[in-house]
Amino acid sequence: MIKSPIANPRLHAIAVGCILLAATRFLWVAEAFQSQPHRPQLQSHLHTAFTAKAVPQQNAINNARKNRSQLKAFPAATAATASSAVAALGRFFLPSSNLSKILRATALVVTVVLTASPRVRQRILWPGLSYPSADKELLPGSLGCPFIGMPFMLSNKPSYGAGSFYRTQATKLKATLGKVPGLWKYYFMGMNFAVLSGGKTFQKILSLEFTGSLSSSGVDLMEGGLLPTETILFEPDKKRHAYLRRLVGMALTPAAVDATAPTLQTAAEEQVSRMMAAKDNDEPVQFQKICTDYTLDVAWRQILGLELPEEEIPYFEQQVATWIEGIMTLRVLFRVGVKSTPGYKAREYIASKIGERIDELLEQGPDNKSTLSGMVFATDDEGGTGKKLTREEIIANALILIFAGSETSASTLTNAMLFLGLHPSVWDRLFKEQEDIRAKYGDTITPKSVDASNAPYLDAVLKESLRMRTIVGGIPRKALEDIDVDGDGKTIIPKGWLVDPSMLLTHEEDPATKLPDAMHMDAIQGFRPERWLKDDDTYETPNGEWYVPYGYGPRYCLGKNLAQLEMKIFLATMVRKIGFPKLSMLPENYDFSPDKKSEKDPNYFSVQWSTKGAVIPNAADGVVATITVPQKSVVNI
Ligand code: HEM
Repeated sequence: MIKSPIANPRLHAIAVGCILLAATRFLWVAEAFQSQPHRPQLQSHLHTAFTAKAVPQQNAINNARKNRSQLKAFPAATAATASSAVAALGRFFLPSSNLSKILRATALVVTVVLTASPRVRQRILWPGLSYPSADKELLPGSLGCPFIGMPFMLSNKPSYGAGSFYRTQATKLKATLGKVPGLWKYYFMGMNFAVLSGGKTFQKILSLEFTGSLSSSGVDLMEGGLLPTETILFEPDKKRHAYLRRLVGMALTPAAVDATAPTLQTAAEEQVSRMMAAKDNDEPVQFQKICTDYTLDVAWRQILGLELPEEEIPYFEQQVATWIEGIMTLRVLFRVGVKSTPGYKAREYIASKIGERIDELLEQGPDNKSTLSGMVFATDDEGGTGKKLTREEIIANALILIFAGSETSASTLTNAMLFLGLHPSVWDRLFKEQEDIRAKYGDTITPKSVDASNAPYLDAVLKESLRMRTIVGGIPRKALEDIDVDGDGKTIIPKGWLVDPSMLLTHEEDPATKLPDAMHMDAIQGFRPERWLKDDDTYETPNGEWYVPYGYGPRYCLGKNLAQLEMKIFLATMVRKIGFPKLSMLPENYDFSPDKKSEKDPNYFSVQWSTKGAVIPNAADGVVATITVPQKSVVNI
């Protein structure tokens, strides 16, 4: 018998472990490679590419052709040869100990896996992977590492921030298929995902919710965590969702939101006072903090209508932050002792404040301004049920409004301040527009004075900020049956798969704004509010297939009216009351030319994004800036 050159059994184990690992790695690469090109789609993309006759597309076609022939040249026989080699090596390194027998048996299993049919192989290596009931191919895209799949939350890069995963995968698919398909797959820890981005497919699939083909997976994913699931955001039942939308939405109608303007202006001006105090002390401010505090102020004042004593405000806002941050912590995600987490305790405190306020409202009658009051007294006359929300329903949905409405608006505003701080000419134009409005309407900001017809440039700045950096993805939906997307059997979302709508990738893929190297998403090169103005400087209505910051379909953002007014009043207040913010991230003597420099240029500058998981990607430093007093013009800065 051949003696193993490695006498130590531990070294045996390590050697075999390495062999098995290498074999698994080999399998992973092979599977990822196999699962990427999706033949029927490939053909249609090839056709499009030929008719377009574009050179980059020609390269993509060549790549696709190469990959397709390589794909054919990777049959099970190759896998069998490789696996036999693995087994032979295992036998050589491992003579007769029990451990070696176990390890050889493992090598045998790997051999079986390698030689099995691609589907069996995939089912073994990606447990839980499911296929369409008819013999159809899976969507294009990679499955990732066996057993684990794609740990998407670890993929964030400073050059992009949250959402990098979608961009990286989409770029890979484009290299293979010539364009990013409207639907592509990934796998993570037993769950199958179909990413949805852009165009008619985006609208078509999201419209399927509540038709019996698609439903929210929110309860499955979030039950037992820190978000109340029996709420509008996660409700899977059509009738009940419509009921909740009517009653919760009654306090968010345009008329109800218009009445909030004075509260919003007061909250914005308070943040200006804080910034001015920092300026007087020669301290910089962090816009992420300013914007978060502003939206939390709006949460307790406007959404909940609380009357907090001065000393309790910081505590309340801290508790909201602790609760929201707690939602994605590992303990909560893996449901380990959730009730003892700081996030759970913070949620209990907020819920108790909401409960107290409900009691006050029931005793004293409507306050005629807060969203909570609207919910407490809403009656379902429109739906004909005449029902009212229960106390539990009001508390749970009020929590959801705070969750859905705080980080979203805070991050959008933080990014808007970043973009403004990078573009003095935009700040200048915004300032001039507000000066004209102030001359016409006075110091009080009314909903009319900041609507798109009176303030088209403000509207454009907000639209552009939301285009560049919006919600990474929506709540995943679940396919309740196989969904044949185009009715031709070529693109199927198998039953049980989660549909992951990506708002950010949809914006990135918008053919109307797209620039090479994704420069249309670059903070310097891409930020162009003018794109939302017509030639006569009136506002432009976006194409709803590609511009989706507030989602699409039956779950379209219920708080859009409030979000828009809240953000417009904040930005209008900023340009009226403070001067052009000097961003700390910029090098001394930064050249504000709106064209991005080449990386070789000594004055090259690029924004670094935070790699923390976030609903909306944020600049890494939270947009630290030095505030100045207002000045007439900054274009020649
Ligand atoms: C910049 C600010 C905001 C953005 C970008 C935004 C975006 C979105 C998006 C994309 C969705 C759909 C998600 C999906 O389809 O999975 C959504 C839903 C929702 N949003 Fe907003 N949102 C913002 C602010 C707000 C505010 C201020 C509120 C309320 C105070 C709010 C309340 C909601 C609710 C309740 C839903 C769920 C609707 C339903 O399931 O029927 N949002 N939002």
